[in-house]
Amino acid sequence: MITSEEVRKLFINFFEKRGHKNIPSSSLIPSDDLSVLLIPAGMQPLKKYFTGEKNALNDFGTQRLISIQKCFRTTDIDEIGDERHLTFFEMLGNFSFSPVGSDDPSDYSNSGYFKKSAIYWAYEFLIQELGLKIDYVSIFKGENNIPLDEEAKKIWLSLGLSEDQIKLFGREDNFWGPTGDEGPCGPTTEIYVDNIEIWNLVFNEYYQEKNGVLRKLNLRGVDTGMGLERLMKVIQKTETIFETDLFEPLRITLLNLKSDINQRDLRIILDHLRSSVFLISDGVLPSNLERGYILRRILRRLMLKLVKYNLLDYLDQLVLAVKNKFNSIYENLNNYDKIINVIKGEFVSFEKTLRRGLNKFDRIVVYRNREEMIEKLFIMFSSYGLPLDISAEILKERGVFLDNKDLELFQILFKKHQEVSRPTNE
Ligand code: ALA
Repeated sequence: MITSEEVRKLFINFFEKRGHKNIPSSSLIPSDDLSVLLIPAGMQPLKKYFTGEKNALNDFGTQRLISIQKCFRTTDIDEIGDERHLTFFEMLGNFSFSPVGSDDPSDYSNSGYFKKSAIYWAYEFLIQELGLKIDYVSIFKGENNIPLDEEAKKIWLSLGLSEDQIKLFGREDNFWGPTGDEGPCGPTTEIYVDNIEIWNLVFNEYYQEKNGVLRKLNLRGVDTGMGLERLMKVIQKTETIFETDLFEPLRITLLNLKSDINQRDLRIILDHLRSSVFLISDGVLPSNLERGYILRRILRRLMLKLVKYNLLDYLDQLVLAVKNKFNSIYENLNNYDKIINVIKGEFVSFEKTLRRGLNKFDRIVVYRNREEMIEKLFIMFSSYGLPLDISAEILKERGVFLDNKDLELFQILFKKHQEVSRPTNE
């Protein structure tokens, strides 16, 4: 069976042969970009090459780059536990930035390319290198004055796909970006294997301004992204991404310690442990602000699950399992002492609150209707310090899901509470 380590090498070799320079993953913390808190895609650290503010030929000797970028998607935090969402993942991507050269897939030089080469190479890599079969692809159908992507359609047809295998979608599905509130964006073509979208090829022809207006970029950029976890799922034919080798030996270690962890909790532990290790190794510390707060939420939910299964004493072993899988790729994971100390520090400061909250929860959160339920959750928060997202997770375990109305009600109570407890000048 092909391992993820081998797939990394195959990807790098394939694209290096075709004139690309492999650049190391950037930190999850953006270096000079306030538009996002954490890097959500491979293109994010390369934004300035798409806008023309930087020139890849000057910096790297080629207009063609590849990376396997560490990514973190904050929008997916509440979805974790299902079969396919992750907070942290790795994205394989190839990029091109220049005014287009020949766009000939047999051109292995260092000049820019566009749709034809990008689509041909994606096809070649999946079919010839990995032995996969493409079920179907999607292209941009045209919407809001941006035309149907005829060119992408023709290219797919020339590769032997039938009309039926080329699905047409609008702005919602087949137009990518920008990340944050402005940036490069454009129509995409997405490739599906085993009914899973595994590769997104974006043709960055536009820049979206803060006010939502699109302007045409001078360059025509290629930005592709293929989630390594999903790719490994289709290669290794596992039931979900969580049984791929990317989660070993952590998954086995956990199951050896506790064989009766339910699937959802197991996935939350796998995801949150991995993502907190990566966030901390890149310098994020738990706090009540921005990325620090993202890490704090993840660590606290992780702790809730470890406490539930009596696994808190095995933290070292679990963190080591993550480190051992990835430290040959990401050197800063060798900073094991720092990582474990940050996690333990957060656990120590939250442990009393969590245990007391868990103790009180069933006695306090008794309710006859939604409003009363939220009032009780608010008491858990205001009197016992139990954060709402932890309460929400405890309820989820029992099949009760908070909706937007519930959250709004909680906010109203929160504001009232603030007003009452605000000191007056009298
Ligand atoms: N930037 C594109 C994505 O993240 C490739 O899907």
